[in-house]
Amino acid sequence: MIKAKQVWSPETYLRHGAFVSLLGEPVVQVLAPKEGEKILDLGCGEGILTEKIIESGADVLAMDNSADQIEAAQNRHMKAVCMDALEMNFENEFDAVFSNAALHWMSPLSKVFENVYRALKPGGRFVAEMGGAGNIQSIRMALYNALMRRGIDPALYDPWSYLGDSSARMMLQRIGFEVRSCTLIRRPTDLPGDIGPWLETFAGSFMQAVPDEQHPALIDELRDTLQPTLFDPNNKWVADYVRLRFKVVKPA
Ligand code: BEZ
Repeated sequence: MIKAKQVWSPETYLRHGAFVSLLGEPVVQVLAPKEGEKILDLGCGEGILTEKIIESGADVLAMDNSADQIEAAQNRHMKAVCMDALEMNFENEFDAVFSNAALHWMSPLSKVFENVYRALKPGGRFVAEMGGAGNIQSIRMALYNALMRRGIDPALYDPWSYLGDSSARMMLQRIGFEVRSCTLIRRPTDLPGDIGPWLETFAGSFMQAVPDEQHPALIDELRDTLQPTLFDPNNKWVADYVRLRFKVVKPA
């Protein structure tokens, strides 16, 4: 299946997606980085959480497949490389690999996990949080229905891979990891404003399926569809996020 490509603008992401890094801070606590450790931040975006890891004194390499996000990360004065997780060929290099809100944009995940396994030193840990099964289900269904009404196959424009906890556990174990924890967490998430900018920032690949001049009408239609479920009585948009959080270890 063709996976449509999401294009990231660091400026738009900072304006409408800053909450993603803020909500990822507990994952850095699970990582518990230590001074001198060599850590890879996989799918670092513009590097906000990477900075938190660097504060521990760890030697961090930030990595993302968006050249624009990597340029933004480099402007924050960190080591950052533009590379696709499917292509990375590090071997026994890192004490830990970290990833927040990035893995669900990558496919096939089994190949990414294999590359992480190879990149870790024996005894190294992989700590990650990503969208899990059922993540933003109402938004995804609204996008599917809106494209199907236009005679378009939405699966061709869907960039997201979500795993349940059992399938993630099995996939990670098959590769050789020891699973320390692997849980699905429902996390209804207050959006910083209207659903429109969220759709423009995060659902760009679905938007690519219709001509630019039809985007405002598509967004109005999606807002109307989603309002009864996601617009709460306190006049806030609350998205139905579900996280998959895990900590796994490469045997020593
Ligand atoms: C997520 O972090 O789960 C996510 C964000 C935007 C679009 C899809 C998923």
